[in-house]
Amino acid sequence: MIVFVPKEVRKGENRVAATPETVKKLIKAGHEVQFEPGCGMGAFISDEEFSAAGAKSTAADTGWAQADLILKIQAPDQRGDGKHEADLMKKGAILICSLVPQNEIETIKKLQANQITCFSTNLIPRTTIAQKMDTLSSQASLAGYKAVILAAAHLGSYFPMMMTAAGTVTPAKVVILGAGVAGLQAIATARRLGALVEAFDVRAAVKEQVESLGAKFIEVESDENLDGAGGYAKEASEDFLKRQRAEIAKRCSAANVVITTALIPGKKAPLLVPTETVKNMAPGSVIVDMAVEQGGNCELTQPGITVHHGVTIIGELNLPSTMSIHGSQLFAKNLWNFIEHTFKEAGFDWEEEITQGSVLTHGGEIKHGPTAELLKGE
Ligand code: NAI
Repeated sequence: MIVFVPKEVRKGENRVAATPETVKKLIKAGHEVQFEPGCGMGAFISDEEFSAAGAKSTAADTGWAQADLILKIQAPDQRGDGKHEADLMKKGAILICSLVPQNEIETIKKLQANQITCFSTNLIPRTTIAQKMDTLSSQASLAGYKAVILAAAHLGSYFPMMMTAAGTVTPAKVVILGAGVAGLQAIATARRLGALVEAFDVRAAVKEQVESLGAKFIEVESDENLDGAGGYAKEASEDFLKRQRAEIAKRCSAANVVITTALIPGKKAPLLVPTETVKNMAPGSVIVDMAVEQGGNCELTQPGITVHHGVTIIGELNLPSTMSIHGSQLFAKNLWNFIEHTFKEAGFDWEEEITQGSVLTHGGEIKHGPTAELLKGE
């Protein structure tokens, strides 16, 4: 196959979907790799490094039109020249990228019309064997780490306890809401910086993981089972969320930093930190809302950095892109692992769990059930 790696066009995206390491693996597997000049710039990978790995520098329009397989970070988007990337591929081409179906309805319609076989890494089933292909996990981990670093950079005080000649400084108190991949990495990072950490998640299974990282688990009394399929959470009832918000409000008013990561697949992020809670936080404290792209866990979050009632609220979009070197390295490796697993000499095995679970469009059809339902309502 001819594999093409374009430069990402979405604003603020610095990552690239292949690295010299994965280019070598693709070539060794018998493919020809082409890359758009400058595609690695945001991740500090030069054209010379891609060429040295065996890839061919190719103008964007030629690359898109010729390729059998396109590797991307973001879903196809409109380019600066007005052309949409989803219209640049030849019929039957294969695209692999991280695409959130509910945010990309118009693009999905184009992929369907142009008979593109599109796999979204966001749809890869969460099985043990799929862990090495899971871009959601590799990127959420980077984001969880960066969220803590950002909080520390905006907090006017130390994270660790400090015994100095001028007096002893108490450690920062950090509350982490949602202890999935990003939240657990945030707990580990805040602990490494010496903070006292408390964390909460609706999935009871997480308590032990939180405690093993040295954080305290915040308990909210409930007889609802909120463990959903595939390690994800189910949507909590309004009654549960009310009790949860009351408990969180208490913890937040004593915290210096609150990091929120709570998400429900395919839904708006749950509201955990209403305006009232922010008002009760100490001036100078910091909230990092990692759910900003899904509407935010804090009522006052806006994209970027804002200050409300003396509290700095960080709603930085696309945190993994701010870690573009490791972001690209891990994402590209995830894609290579996916290709190695799903691409067979004889074609795709549509009965195989990972292939079947992650395909979004193929042969002019929407193959992902929930997306097909969404499109019916259009
Ligand atoms: P996510 O990004 O969808 O959600 C983040 C966290 O928010 C989850 O832990 C969820 O339980 C929590 N949450 C939802 N509503 C909440 C609320 N109202 N209050 C507090 N927390 C709330 O999930 P993520 O991080 O992508 O994965 C969750 C779990 O899935 C992981 O911890 C892991 O157990 C499992 N997993 C399995 C994989 C595999 O086996 N291949 C790969 C990745 C994750």
